[in-house]
Amino acid sequence: MNPTVTESTETHRPAQLGKVYVETYGCQMNEYDSGIVKELFRKEHYETTNSVEDSDIIFLNTCAVRENAHAKIYGRLQSLGYLKKKNPNLVIGVLGCMAQNLGEDLFNQELPLDLIVGPDNYRTLPELIQNIRQGERDVQLTRLSRTETYDELEPKVVNGIQAFVTIMRGCNNFCTFCVVPYTRGRERSREPQSIIREIKELEAMGVKQVTLLGQNVNSYSYERFDFCALVESILKETTIERIRFTSPHPKDFPDHLISLMAKEERFSSQIHMPLQAGSSKVLRDMKRSYTKEEYLELVERIQKVIPDIGITSDIIVGFPGETEEEFRETLEVVNKVKFDMSYMFKYSEREGTIAKRKFIDDVPEETKSKRLIELVELQTKISLEKNLSKIGKTFSILIENTSKKSKQELCGRSHCGRMVVFPIPEGQSLDLSDWIGKTVNVVIEQATSATLKGKLV
Ligand code: 5AD
Ligand code: SF4
Repeated sequence: MNPTVTESTETHRPAQLGKVYVETYGCQMNEYDSGIVKELFRKEHYETTNSVEDSDIIFLNTCAVRENAHAKIYGRLQSLGYLKKKNPNLVIGVLGCMAQNLGEDLFNQELPLDLIVGPDNYRTLPELIQNIRQGERDVQLTRLSRTETYDELEPKVVNGIQAFVTIMRGCNNFCTFCVVPYTRGRERSREPQSIIREIKELEAMGVKQVTLLGQNVNSYSYERFDFCALVESILKETTIERIRFTSPHPKDFPDHLISLMAKEERFSSQIHMPLQAGSSKVLRDMKRSYTKEEYLELVERIQKVIPDIGITSDIIVGFPGETEEEFRETLEVVNKVKFDMSYMFKYSEREGTIAKRKFIDDVPEETKSKRLIELVELQTKISLEKNLSKIGKTFSILIENTSKKSKQELCGRSHCGRMVVFPIPEGQSLDLSDWIGKTVNVVIEQATSATLKGKLV
């Protein structure tokens, strides 16, 4: 959860407007939203900057889902105080889920802070900045919208050949542990033509792979378009090489989506499908709308149609009331499904959630830690087994970048979402533009729990 600072581009502004700096915390959706904010200010002829020291407006786009997210932002705001002393006209704003979650309370913490704006109100930001500059203080706007999808603000959050595209916002599921329905509001889907236009423009910029983002992508619904119809239109109307998506909810994973994944080479055969817990009792308390058996049956259905499918998951241990036996059921499901990888969390209370109101956070911290360690150990073992089983097989890899370790090694993903690293063969071009964005066949020779290594065939 390191702050990521996305690139700024052109500069054309009347000097008095000032420079906008955005720091992003949390998920890919926030990354995309930071892009929306920058695009908004660019349209208003502000400059954007990657230097916090050099900025006139600082936005922290925050998260309320991850553990310690709040503490991190308090710390960061305190550390920005010195810039306010240096530049009394500096405006500091908190955006995103924490802004929505805590609202006005944030003003009562003696932090250097002028502005609190939630995820549905970014359009008003330039106007709010003007108001603050004219002397208004402690400006807050956290009204949730049922319609805002920022359609024409296409931030083009591009990382090499890969880009994210938000297709829907918000969530109607109200899983009891989760703050998202309160911070991002009700589900609403973006107009298909606006999504397709954005993808076409990304293609023109050299993007080869898009990840469709939403809190619950398979609830996508816009007039006659469901998620499958949207993907079919993208496949038909663009030539984008790979389409990935995150995340679907196991409660509504239709068969025609499974067949589309099986049939379409360009549609990724990887699913991030959060399990959250393996016990039907805990799942009921979490309000996940499926039982352990239903989850397992769904996985079986998917694996039957797409044997090479990559499945990853989110799992929480120590939800209120979770007994040792119920935790064992989580281990049992993990063992049965054999996820390629999982993000694993200790339950912790989030402000405003149903679980915080309804249940006592009664699993001792020590037990949560013990369960997490056991789960992580099991998942690491499974990830390693799954990766070892790929040795000798050949995968079609879309090259994304050089590897973290060496500029003479390339890396990219297989259709099933696994990261594969391989060296540039001796005697071949070391010019990265000859490689990045190309699809090549790689035979796997070595595996760890996190990566696959191979060589070009
Ligand atoms: N405690 C622990 N983990 C949580 N997540 C969301 N809310 C909580 C919480 N209160 C995890 C879920 C979700 C992922 C993004 O974060 O597993 O899928
Ligand atoms: Fe949160 Fe559940 Fe919605 Fe996911 S589906 S965003 S966990 S409420």
